[in-house]
Amino acid sequence: MNPFDIVFNRHLVFGAGKLREVPGMLSWHKVKKVFLTSFDRGNPNFIAFTSLLDEAGIPYVVYADIQGEPDARCINQGRDLYLEEGCDCAVAFGGGSIIDATKAINMLAVNGGMIEQYQMEGREVLTAPPLFIAIPTTSGTGAEATKTAVVLNNDNGLKKSLYHTTMIADIVVLDPELTLSLPAPITAATGMDALSHAIESYVSLNATPITEMYGLAAVRLISQNLERAVREPSDVEARGAMMLASYFGGVAITAGIGIAHIMAQPLGGTFKIPHGDACSIFLPASIELNRAYAKERYARLAEAFGVDTQGLDADAATDALIGKIRELQAAISAPTHLTPYLNHEIPLDELIDIVKRTTGHITCNPRPLNEELMREAYELAL
Ligand SMILES: NC(=O)c1ccc[n+]([C@@H]2O[C@H](COP(=O)([O-])OP(=O)(O)OC[C@H]3O[C@@H](n4cnc5c(N)ncnc54)[C@H](O)[C@@H]3O)[C@@H](O)[C@H]2O)c1
Ligand SMILES: [Fe+2]
Repeated sequence: MNPFDIVFNRHLVFGAGKLREVPGMLSWHKVKKVFLTSFDRGNPNFIAFTSLLDEAGIPYVVYADIQGEPDARCINQGRDLYLEEGCDCAVAFGGGSIIDATKAINMLAVNGGMIEQYQMEGREVLTAPPLFIAIPTTSGTGAEATKTAVVLNNDNGLKKSLYHTTMIADIVVLDPELTLSLPAPITAATGMDALSHAIESYVSLNATPITEMYGLAAVRLISQNLERAVREPSDVEARGAMMLASYFGGVAITAGIGIAHIMAQPLGGTFKIPHGDACSIFLPASIELNRAYAKERYARLAEAFGVDTQGLDADAATDALIGKIRELQAAISAPTHLTPYLNHEIPLDELIDIVKRTTGHITCNPRPLNEELMREAYELAL
């Protein structure tokens, strides 16, 4: 069994309407001023939330300048506002972009310097960040369950992660009502991100009994609820199941990313492909490329996906898993090819170099990572 080091949120709350409990939680912690981020100041749920804070007399400052997936600039600026306003806790209300940016800002506020130093130069996090509450409004990244923040570096254009055990959210509030307004294409793509976390972590060489358990549970929930959530946006049950699946996927992916994310993250940054779209594109290719190295594991994932694997050998079960994923992608119109996103020409050698400089150090993909594998993944995804 692999040794492991896993950190969990201290407090997890799930259920429709649970957002209303957040002001009470902030009161327990006697916070002075909340650094509050949002994907949209005008979102009705966000407005309702700020009214609750007003009623409870909890001071806050809103930072809503995180546009798209976060870059270093918006994080450094956010840190300035955090300090100017004398904040002593952070609350993120948004998708993975908002949660990651807030996670990084909250860390930076007490550790000093620029985010690029932690991301590119290995500067260490020495002080545990203040209270951090994550309230996701998408169901995909599981960023609320991880200690990681993914950031686009403005100087070199690379999208790279930084992480520390103490950066994980203290409290997570999963309120399915917050995702009812998610448009179908975002529901679909973010759901495919969650599925990629579940599958990639399950075949990771660093998988542990804990990540395996969460990965399989996420696959079950996604196979039964993602299409429903896309077709019926106001189905609170399906939305709730997807929120939980995303959270489970986040716990699972602490076992490490595989070739789908190894390609999707840096190329998503380079071509401005939303993270979920990029994961959806690379997921089936990753299974094709890895299948000889993780046969039995893919067969168990197929079973979790609802395939009747009785009488099937591992190869046939893996074929069935790929078939199910392709069917799901078609049913929810999730992206399957890279070509439509390649808005400017970059030679393949240069793209491979970008991957090597960002995710190229990751060694837990079941098939050993090398340039040939990266090239094959790119070509299969085109
Ligand atoms: N930290 C981690 O462990 C981790 C894991 C995977 C991905 N990520 C990162 O997360 C980011 C992507 O996050 P995401 O996929 O959640 O997308 P996102 O946060 O970028 O949101 C996607 C879009 O949906 C909108 N939106 C969000 N919630 C909404 C709602 N309830 N109603 C209507 N619109 C809404 C946003 O404004 C945005 O336009 C990427 O930067 C990715 O690299 C982080
Ligand atoms: Fe992801």
